[in-house]
Amino acid sequence: MTFAHRHLLGIEPLSPSDITAILDLADKYVALSRQRDKHVDVLAGLTQINMFFENSTRTQASFELAGKRLGADVMNMAMQASSIKKGETLIDTALTLNAMHPDLLVVRHPQSGAVDLLAQKVNCAVLNAGDGRHEHPTQALLDALTIRRAKGRLHRLSVAICGDIAHSRVARSNILLLGKMENRVRLIGPPTLMPSGISEFGVEVFEDMEEGLRDVDVVMMLRLQKERMDGGFIPSEREYFHRYGLDADKLSHAKADAIVMHPGPMNRGVEIDGTIADDINRSVIQEQVEMGVAVRMAAMELLARNLPGEAAA
Ligand code: NCD
Repeated sequence: MTFAHRHLLGIEPLSPSDITAILDLADKYVALSRQRDKHVDVLAGLTQINMFFENSTRTQASFELAGKRLGADVMNMAMQASSIKKGETLIDTALTLNAMHPDLLVVRHPQSGAVDLLAQKVNCAVLNAGDGRHEHPTQALLDALTIRRAKGRLHRLSVAICGDIAHSRVARSNILLLGKMENRVRLIGPPTLMPSGISEFGVEVFEDMEEGLRDVDVVMMLRLQKERMDGGFIPSEREYFHRYGLDADKLSHAKADAIVMHPGPMNRGVEIDGTIADDINRSVIQEQVEMGVAVRMAAMELLARNLPGEAAA
């Protein structure tokens, strides 16, 4: 098995076999993470630095745990988005850290493209933990692993991604990944929350939830990303929930065994009804969190194998 990438900046450059390689290795790390002793030493001696210029709960915690379970030295830098002058300062920070010889750099940044730019300036492997509305590759990979384990396959499924598509890097990475693996992707949301040029993505677009959810295998809900909205994109949260919030009634249009996903953090009563989110027969939201650690372990191991000075695996 080969994984010929120096960085993990997005889903876009990955082939279906790259995606399968990450998911197959991640399956092993799910099993390891369920054991009492969760420790292996595949990253022993390596230094991992997490730089989050934007808030994060799940992604930062799971990258930290992933590195620790693999035996790396992990450092979290607390970056305050408000105190940085974007662009110049980002590169300066990167160069400073680079001088400390990290092997893996995990970066989240509010500007689309910032992580790619940073990757050009450093010698180590860079993992994109979310850049603006561009990509969030490990989220799409953990979603893919969750789907593959729940449905027994990751092809010829019908997947509805619902809500604030326009501001969502999660949606973008998922559209790319699910398309590469030959699934049918439907996007459902109000026209104000659909990105322009969406037709190029090879997806079907719906404005109506009942119509869009009909017979789908997977329902993926998205948070209303208010921090990226600079105006009135929706009339009111109440109205939004009425039309686009996932409740039992709307879900009844999907297949009887359709699973419900959400990357978190959730706004209960805005994009999803709390009862659906907590329904262990339908919701795989906690599984997504569990898969997040395993997928990040797999991605870091595969990138570490390509670091200079490493023997080919
Ligand atoms: C997502 C993100 O940050 O892009 N969250 C996550 O990584 N779990 C989605 C979101 O913030 O709504």
